[in-house]
Amino acid sequence: MDASSDTTATPRIAQDLLDWYDAHGRTLPWRVRLDEPAPDPYRVWLSEVMLQQTTVAAVKAYFTAFTTRWPTVEALAAAPEGDVMAAWAGLGYYARARNLLACAREVAANGGAFPDTEEGLRALPGLGAYTAAAVAAIAFGRRAVVVDANVERVVARLFAIDTPLPAARPLIREYAEVITPDARAGDFAQAMMDLGATVCTSRAPRCLLCPLSAGCAGRASGEPERLPVKAAKKARATRKGRAFWIERERGGQAEVWLVRRAGKGMLGGMRALPDDGWAARADGSGEGPIAGPWESAGAVGHVFTHFALELELAVYLGERVEGLEDGEWWPLDRLDEAGLPTLFAKAARLALAAEREDA
Ligand code: ADE
Repeated sequence: MDASSDTTATPRIAQDLLDWYDAHGRTLPWRVRLDEPAPDPYRVWLSEVMLQQTTVAAVKAYFTAFTTRWPTVEALAAAPEGDVMAAWAGLGYYARARNLLACAREVAANGGAFPDTEEGLRALPGLGAYTAAAVAAIAFGRRAVVVDANVERVVARLFAIDTPLPAARPLIREYAEVITPDARAGDFAQAMMDLGATVCTSRAPRCLLCPLSAGCAGRASGEPERLPVKAAKKARATRKGRAFWIERERGGQAEVWLVRRAGKGMLGGMRALPDDGWAARADGSGEGPIAGPWESAGAVGHVFTHFALELELAVYLGERVEGLEDGEWWPLDRLDEAGLPTLFAKAARLALAAEREDA
């Protein structure tokens, strides 16, 4: 099947979808409506970077916190990296936060205006094809073809594309290209995303509420939920690791030893508990930063993109702790301000729960 031979209904698709969006699109903190002035490119860019691989529900509070603290790209560019990494903690994929800052600094150094074309945006740190297209369309009204997982699902159903993903991607893109209108391409992209998130959902699509159902080949097939077909997934590898909770008391104040992870690599640049180097090894046999004796507080699990980690937590509570280097004692009653990534925040909760049980 070839997308260009299948175009007669396409202006209708865009119009029906935009009408639906004007009535039913979600109200989100980075969005503007048809009758409002154009959105601030900084806010559009920030939201799109945050939304890569993270849900809208999770992003909202982070977006508000970031834009309150750093209302402009210049303000963000001037922020210390540690502050940005800590504010990002919990959103995951920490390389995105480092690129976010690198991008803000580049834009600020160039006078503070984002490039207004897909090509210009693509040249900025951290902006892949998706983000460049999304920002060009949403912030600058450019006609750009924006394809994320929601759009993929909607298009695969609309045209009953049953080639499995990821092989289907070029064909899905061709169809997305054909149905993208010249005007309001940014609203069209966001309408596709909203339709995918709220109506054309993975498991139980609500075709009765869908503005495109009359022309939907997936619906006509009787099993829209079967699409898009996905190639069988390889099982995720599992790794084991150990992290170390080293606690002492000073002047009536309990403190835990935290380190800053190396800039490159997993969770790079984030504050963390010391660990045995699981990011590079898979067997959990590595040494701690001091000799111990260690007590096990159990383990926490965390799923990364390419592997699942089982992280055992070894605890040392002692008055005399010697030999620690390259880290800092952090007061336990301010641990939530340390900006620990989710994996280590889970480990910290485990350690504190184990202490309460022992008390
Ligand atoms: N996912 C990624 N970008 C989005 C946007 N602008 N609106 C809704 N969902 C999105």
